[in-house]
This record gives sequence, structure tokens and C-alpha cells, in this order.
Amino acid sequence: MSEAKLEAWHEENRKFAPSAEFAAQANAQPSIYDEADANPEAWWRRQADRLTWEKAPTSTLEWDLPNAKWFSDGTLNASVNCVDRHVAAGRGSKVAYHWVGDREGESRTITYADLQVMVAQAANALVELGVVAGDRVAIYMPMIPEAVVAMLACARLGAAHSVVFAGFSADALSSRILDSDCRYVITADGAFRRGAPSPLKPAVDEALRSCPDVKAVLVVRRTGEDVVWTEGRDYWWHELVERQPTEHTPEFFPAEQTLIIMYTSGTTAKPKGIYHTTGGYLTHVATTHHYIFDLKADTDVFWTAADIGWITGHSYIVYGPLANGATQVMYEGLPDSGGKDRWWKIIEQYKVTILYTAPTTIRTLMKWGEEYPASHDLSSLRVLGTVGEPINPEAWMWYREHIGANRCPIVDTWWQTETGGILVTPLPGISVTKPGAAMRAFPGISVDVVDNEGRSVGNGEGGYLVVTKPWPGMTRGIYGDPARFLETYWSRFPGVYFAGDGAKRDADGDLWLLGRVDDVMNISGHRLSTTEVEHALVGHPAVAEAAVVGASDDTTGQAIVAFVTLRLSADDASKDQTEVIEEIRAHVARVISPIAKPRQIILTPELPKTRSGKIMRRLLRDVAENRHLGDVTTLTDPTVVNMIAGLMGSHTGSED
Ligand code: PRX
Repeated sequence: MSEAKLEAWHEENRKFAPSAEFAAQANAQPSIYDEADANPEAWWRRQADRLTWEKAPTSTLEWDLPNAKWFSDGTLNASVNCVDRHVAAGRGSKVAYHWVGDREGESRTITYADLQVMVAQAANALVELGVVAGDRVAIYMPMIPEAVVAMLACARLGAAHSVVFAGFSADALSSRILDSDCRYVITADGAFRRGAPSPLKPAVDEALRSCPDVKAVLVVRRTGEDVVWTEGRDYWWHELVERQPTEHTPEFFPAEQTLIIMYTSGTTAKPKGIYHTTGGYLTHVATTHHYIFDLKADTDVFWTAADIGWITGHSYIVYGPLANGATQVMYEGLPDSGGKDRWWKIIEQYKVTILYTAPTTIRTLMKWGEEYPASHDLSSLRVLGTVGEPINPEAWMWYREHIGANRCPIVDTWWQTETGGILVTPLPGISVTKPGAAMRAFPGISVDVVDNEGRSVGNGEGGYLVVTKPWPGMTRGIYGDPARFLETYWSRFPGVYFAGDGAKRDADGDLWLLGRVDDVMNISGHRLSTTEVEHALVGHPAVAEAAVVGASDDTTGQAIVAFVTLRLSADDASKDQTEVIEEIRAHVARVISPIAKPRQIILTPELPKTRSGKIMRRLLRDVAENRHLGDVTTLTDPTVVNMIAGLMGSHTGSED
């Protein structure tokens, strides 16, 4: 056996069985897979009883590919499920969020009773501004409790929220506002980042210059920094919301009422407005949260260290945990705000029992060193989770050993913005886990790995991950673009959902996710398309042509490498090339977000193209990865690639 093969063999054969003690008390018992397999729809219908319905559904699934309806004749209110029903059941004094600010010493405790009042007041305020069921409301906020309250207030009124990650630029915000025609925006003056205020409102003001239909902007005062005010459009949260009645009588909406719009990158320059509806989504996230994290609502302290600006935050900071009445930690800052042991301090202080984060963060924490976690008492932890990208076995092992004391089960959860909730994962207490494997489909979910022709591959083989049956949390479509929905997800292989990820089945039939198979990049768990970044690059006056690829990166999983040809004005030509590169990088940050800044920009006189004029990305990927260059015979000018390979390393952007 070659060394690489031997290593892979070891990886596949390293297994961790659940402890008998954990297994005995686990929410999931081994029979769960059989129960769900016997009749997945009936199983999901039983899970829907976790929710409080005003009218219980009599229908389960209506499926007319690609359109699914789940529980469609049921009616419910998402915010009642997340908040009011827990208060009504006598759990009002239970903590919903231990909120921890970026700056040390700043914290808030919000009980379910507090949350009920906050949501009622916010809902009343939105009504006063004119929000009605069916409207879309954009939310552009830092990680503060009001962000959750804003989401729940929209849900309470039957309005869909479109949360835009606060790290996105004004341009990205305005295009999302326009695409789903949001008439209201909820934001804050700013956020804190490593102790310093970082403004948000100016980006909203800039975005709204191109969104004339936005009627009102509700602004939370977070930093206290000066903001520009547009009378008649802008309203302070503390003035408008806090004077509202503390009760709000909810209406109930059909299960298929749109709850969420969440933009995510596809393979084109235009992000897709993935939308989710209420009954199926809530059932999915509550059920997965209960079993996958083994949630014991009375005693656990759950912490998803993600931002509400992504689907992970929606499903496992807001809707799943709140529907289950969990107590959570919500943290505003970065992992090293206030010191490299900040996370471990938080876990120790709040006795966090379940931690859910991304592999990229684990790798960063690993780099900082185990002395940081070692200096804190992490013995409260009992389940660890990861999400967002494939986790390398080394990071998995570090997480297990240094955070989980070789005791906590690790759940590597695979899912997407489109899937609404987790689809592939081990279950703590049942599953034998393997470092780097997401293992198998959640009960009631059917996935497969298929080859180019859509045939199921055997054990030990790789292919494309597909989902073969509809599931409750699945997206109901791309906002305003049903044709693109059908084309993107349901056309590659007939009858099944094409996820866009590569996967393999190991010798035991367990699943390993291998990353994207399309032009979507995964940078620190953030999803970006190559074309989106190329589009931003060519928007810079000095850029003639650009090609972007994702290259492997030890910390961020993938990193953006851009190959750029310039059209230099006389002014630009006089500049140092590094200066031009820096300008271009800053331009991308401005147009999309700092997360989209290329790690490297390689200036090249030409890009490699096929005879039909298509840029040969595969070759560029090989160049970016320093791989042996494959067949270049279809290139118009094969020497271009070698020339570019020679340029690599000579003109690189700084790394930050
Ligand atoms: O490539 C997969 C990767 O993240 C993509 C989905 O990104 P997004 O919609 O932003 O949602 C991220 C959070 C759910 C997937 O197509 N991905 C997500 N989880 C995993 C993963 N890749 C490997 N293993 C995972 N556990």
C-alpha cells in the first residue's frame, strides 16, 4: 500500500464508539432509523407534533417536482412556537439567551418572558410602520438580541425576513433588498469588533440610494456613534419599539407561509434568494436540533458560534433551539475579542454543554494552541458539532481531544442554505464516528452518491451527493426565479435533488463529503461563487479580464486566487503593481464583502482560453494549487499557462 493509501486506510478505520453511559440517556435510540425508514412521511408527521399548531395538519407531503408542500392545511405562528408557548407552559423565567458582548464584561440575560415582551413590542412597532403579512423585511444587524427579536417579530406578522450578513457591502445589501422587493429595513448604528465600534448605518444609507421603495428603517442604537438621519424614513428602535404595548395577539398562518429568504451564492454572479416556509422548516429544525445535539432542554446550555446572517444562525441559533425551548449562549464578538481564550472563558462561565462551530474556526483555535482551552474548565461540554465545510481529520481529532476531553461525541453535520436544516450527520449515542466523515442521512432523509450517469455508486467509491426524497425543511424555491430553481437543483439527475457536493462512501458505506463540484467556493465556511468575485473584479476600471478559482488553504479551507489582466490608464501604469493589487482587493471588499477579498491576485498579460474562448479554470486551479499541469492541447496558446505558473508567487496580494 502506498503511504497516502495507508493514511487514508487509517483514517477510515479510526472509529469512536459511543459510551454506554451516553447511549443509555441519548434522545436518539437505534430504532429511530428503522422507524423513520418504515414510513418517512408518517415519521415526519409525528415530528410535526413537536410544534404547537392552531390547526393541526391533516396532509403531510404534496410533491410535484420540484415543488413540495408539507403539512399544507395546518396553521401556526412561528414566533408563538419559539416563544409564547414556552411562557404559557410556565417556563417564562427560563433563560433563552445568555448574550455575551464583544467587549468583556458586557452581557445580558434574556428569559423567554423577556423575549415575549420584546417580540410583542417589535411586532407592534412593525405594524405601526405598516408591515403586513406577505411583506419582505430586510435585516442587517450585528449579533445582538434585537436581531433575533426582529426576525421573530416579522415571523409573528407573517412577513418574510431577509437577513443580510452585516459583513456584506452596501452594494450587496441593495441588490438583495431590490431582488425580493423589501420595503422595510431593520439595522443598527453599528457593531463592536474587538472592542471598537464598526458602523453599519452608513452602508444602509448608501444601499437605499438605489432602493427608493423602502419606506422605513428601524435602527437599534448599539454603539452610540453619530449617524446620518433621514427624517420620515428612519426610526430609532428605542423610541418606536420601547413605547409599544407589551402584548401582541398573534395571527396564525398556513404552514406554507414564507418565513425566510436567505441569499446564497450559486454559480452565477447573482446570488439566489433561497426561501423557506414555516411548518416544514420548523419541524425539520426542531427535530434535527433535538436528536443531533441530544438536547435536554431543562439542563443544556447550547451554543452555536455562528452569525445569524447565515442559515446556520437561522436554524440553530433562532428557530430550532427556540422551538425546543433551549437555553443558549449568543456571542457578538470574534473568537479572539478580548484574548485568544475568549471562547473557553464563555464556556466555563455559562457552563456550555453543546458547542457547534465551523472547521475553519477549529483550525484557527488549533493554531493558537491548546494552552488556551487547557487553562479553562470545559468539563460542562458533552456534545460537539461542526458545520460548513469538510472537516480534516486532524482538526476533528484536535476538537475531540482538546475541547471534548476524548469524551464528547462529535457530530459533523452536512447541510446547506437550501436544505434548511441538517441532512447528513452522526447521532450522538448511536453512531460510531470517524474523524472527517459525516456518516449517514438523518432519519427520514434519503441521500445517495451517484456517478455521472446518476447511478448509485458502491462502497469505496465516490460521486455526487443527491437527495432522493423531498424533506420538510427543503427550500421551496429561488425567490422570483422558478426556472432557475428547477435548472440548478432538479435537472442534473432526473427526479433527485443535486446538492453540488462531491461525496464518497467508504468500505462501510458511510459518507464523506468532499467539497463542491461546481464553481462555488467555500472560504472559511462562507459560500461565494467564482463568477460573483470575477464580476466584482471586472467592475474595477483597471481590470480588463478576471478569472477566479478556489485554492486549498490550511486555515480557511479554500482561499480565493484571482488571475487578472489589466487595462491600465496612464495614471495606473505609473503605480507600483502592489498598489494596483491592493486597490483591486479593496474594491472587491467594497463591492461584496471583506470575506470575498482574494488571497492572491496574479497579474497576467493573458488568461488561458480554449479555442471557443472559454477560460480554462481547471488549469488555473492546477496552477493555484501548484499541481502538475494536465492536458493543455485545447488551449489557443499553451504557453500562457506556463507563463502564469511562473508569475505565481511573484505578484501576490498581502494576506489579511
Ligand atoms: O459544500 C457544502 C458545505 O457548505 C455548502 C453549503 O453552504 P451554505 O449554504 O452556506 O451552508 C453552510 C451551513 C449549512 C455545502 O454545499 N458544507 C456544509 N456542511 C458541510 C459541508 N461540507 C462538508 N461537510 C459538512 N459538514
